[in-house]
Amino acid sequence: MTIEARPGPNQEAWARLEEHARTAGSLRLADLFAADDGRAARFSLDAVGLHLDYSKNLLTGEILADLVALAEQCGLAERVAQMFAGERINTTEDRSVLHVALRAPADAHLVVDGEDVVAEVHEVLAKMAAFATALRSGAWRGHTGLAIRNVVNIGIGGSDLGPLMAYEALRPYSDRRLHFSFVSNIDGAALLEATDGLDPEETLFIVCSKSWRTEETLMNATSARAWLLEKVGDPAAVARHFVAVSTNAEGVRSFGIDPENMFGFWDWVGGRYSFDSAVGLALMCAIGPENFTELLAGFHEMDEHFRHAPLASNLPVLLALVSVWYTNFLGAQSVAVLPYSDYLAAFPAYLQQLEMESNGKHVDLAGRRVGCDTAPVVWGQPGTNGQHAFYQALHQGTRLVPCEMIGFVHPVEELGDHHDVLMANLFAQAEALAFGRDAGALAAAGVPAAQIPHRVAEGNRPTTMILLERLTPRSLGTLVALYEHRVFTEGVIWGIDSFDQWGVELGKILAKTIEGELESPAAPELAHDSSTSALIRRYRDARGRPV
Ligand code: F6P
Repeated sequence: MTIEARPGPNQEAWARLEEHARTAGSLRLADLFAADDGRAARFSLDAVGLHLDYSKNLLTGEILADLVALAEQCGLAERVAQMFAGERINTTEDRSVLHVALRAPADAHLVVDGEDVVAEVHEVLAKMAAFATALRSGAWRGHTGLAIRNVVNIGIGGSDLGPLMAYEALRPYSDRRLHFSFVSNIDGAALLEATDGLDPEETLFIVCSKSWRTEETLMNATSARAWLLEKVGDPAAVARHFVAVSTNAEGVRSFGIDPENMFGFWDWVGGRYSFDSAVGLALMCAIGPENFTELLAGFHEMDEHFRHAPLASNLPVLLALVSVWYTNFLGAQSVAVLPYSDYLAAFPAYLQQLEMESNGKHVDLAGRRVGCDTAPVVWGQPGTNGQHAFYQALHQGTRLVPCEMIGFVHPVEELGDHHDVLMANLFAQAEALAFGRDAGALAAAGVPAAQIPHRVAEGNRPTTMILLERLTPRSLGTLVALYEHRVFTEGVIWGIDSFDQWGVELGKILAKTIEGELESPAAPELAHDSSTSALIRRYRDARGRPV
């Protein structure tokens, strides 16, 4: 299958949006709201249990219509259909992109290369459920007969950020008798800290690597195995204390993990789109198979919405179009993701990989330099912590930073008035960012004249509000799928492959060379630039090795 590269800048709607951008400097949120009582209602959408209010963005009805036209002209509907049909839309790796099959109901059918992938997905889910149930009930024991009390997930990137984020998000639904930790960094400190105080006889490692070739993961897993064997001695213990999640059965076997204890997935699941596959095994052990099923149902609801809703009333599409407007027409370099939920503390980091590894691309599908900016920098912190740190720059700084704020109407658990105060802050921040406070209001409030310029908040700073009922496994699935499809939609508009990640390769190759050079007195000659060579020599010297 060939996918024609049709990047946004070639589209007629793109030119119209450039026209709008020329005069967008005069758009004032205060004026837009004053001129239209129905603005909040017209620029918001309820679907799949989620309320999206995008009215506090620098948008008019005409701009939005042209953004929707842009999505149409870029062939979004066709690309969505191709993804759901299992076509190989990841062209640079010649792969289908079927994370949507991971949450398809058991009676759905999706045949790729002669295989019904939905049936395979449900086989793996059943195997995961049996394992998670055995672990949670104490039926799965360690080598010396003790029940497992600690679960350590070893993985990096998509094999870490997703399960970690979701585990933290759904901690109230987890079995608190089990202790979970996530080790990703190759810095030995990560594994040392994660295993500190744990009894190896009560500890299970889930080694998660799609490729089973990732150096960080394999090195951490090897050190974890040594830590186990140091106490337990018998190499047969590995079978009770290590399970693997991978697409590479041969690699798993040669590491010494019985393929019986391997949970598979497929090359049509991208790492950053994978925590609802076997990559979520640690999560399933924490929250149990039923809650995991709920999570998948939430994902699936959003998948169906994305697949069938018209572009103008499609949540992921609208979110993507707002992002495209700021990134490509108003010059924003970044987007702040601000969840007003402590449970979502890891959500911005998770989205960072999802957006930046997917869409941080400089060429289009045909290999030509893209004609526009691609992925914005994604960053953020949970509210209200950010308010006491970087919000100053959001309110009074000189950069345009569109904010995406996420809140829940009900807390998972009430604690006095905490939730009301949290939500008051959420709504107040969006209001302050949009409408600010001018010199007149400050003077009227008795602020000394000399202070007034320092205290003026200009406002007109855009926010998008995502409001959900309550943080549950289902709503988390809905929220994550919203962002997955938003990233895909942006990628279609930019004409890029959102599912490869070639840019991460070079650093890995160079690190391999330097690894040898740091250690080996036999290779003192260095052929790097003068800065890199000097750093290597300085390190060798400090570590007492021949310089
Ligand atoms: O280096 C980037 C990357 O390939 C990510 O795309 C991926 O999520 C991560 O490494 C981990 O890969 P694996 O699951 O194969 O160990």
